Amino acid sequence: MIFDTHAHYDDGQFDEDREDVLLTMQAGGVGTIVDASATVNSWERVLELTQKYPFVYGMIGVHPDEVGDLNEDNFARMEQLLQKEKIVAVGEIGLDYYWDKESRDLQEAWFVSQLELARKWNLPVNIHSREAAADTMQIMKEHARGIPAIIHCYSYSKEMAEEYVRMGYLIGVGGVVTFKNAKRLKEIVKEIPLSHIVLETDCPYLAPEPNRGKRNSSLNLPYVAQAIAELKGITAEEVIRVTEENAKRFYRIE
Ligand code: NI
Repeated sequence: MIFDTHAHYDDGQFDEDREDVLLTMQAGGVGTIVDASATVNSWERVLELTQKYPFVYGMIGVHPDEVGDLNEDNFARMEQLLQKEKIVAVGEIGLDYYWDKESRDLQEAWFVSQLELARKWNLPVNIHSREAAADTMQIMKEHARGIPAIIHCYSYSKEMAEEYVRMGYLIGVGGVVTFKNAKRLKEIVKEIPLSHIVLETDCPYLAPEPNRGKRNSSLNLPYVAQAIAELKGITAEEVIRVTEENAKRFYRIE
C-alpha cells in the first residue's frame, strides 16, 4: 500500500474534515502516513494523531522558518516527545533561505541541535532545504554522519541528488514531479535508483496534477506513483511496493 512519508494532517486546513479524510485513506490504498511537525505548537497535535489512528506515525521537530519559537524549555519537551512509541523521526528540520524568516545563524544552530537529538535517540531525520543547497550539504556532512535521512521535496541539482544517494539518503518525491515545468526533477527521478526514492505529499500543500492548486491529501499519491512509473518505465504498482518497503525500513515500522 501507499506510504506517505511526509504529511501535515495537523494543519488548520484539515480542521473541518480531518476525521473524514483520514478514515478514507485505507479504502484509497494508503497504508501508512508519517505526520511531520513544523512548529512547536504542532507537536501535541501530531502526537494526538498518532494515538488516535493506528496507521498514522509522527515526527517531532521544528521547520527552519519557525525555529525562533524554540528555547531550552520546549527543546527539553521535544526530547521527551521523541521517546513516544509512534514518534519515528526528527522532522521536519533544515534550512530555508527562500523565506529567510529567521536569521541564518539561528536556523543553522537549531538545525545542528536537532540533528544531535536525532543522534542521541537513534532516530532518522526528515530534511527541509530550500535555496540552501551548499550549507545543507555541509551541515549534513559535518553533523549527520550515520543518521539516516530523507531529503524532503528535493529541489536541487542532479549531481547533488546523486551525492545524497551515495551518502545513503533517500529522496522524497511528491506532487512537483507531475508538474510540466519540473524538468530537472523528472530527470533526477529517472536517473536515481528506486531504492532511494520515497513518496510524500507535504499535504495540504503541493497537490499533483490534475489537482494542482487544490488542498492536497495522501489520496493524490497514485498520480505521483504513476509519474515516477512512467519516467522509469515500470508499473505504478512496483513504485508503490518498493517505496513502501523503503519507507518502512527507514522509519523502522513493522
Ligand atoms: Ni512539510
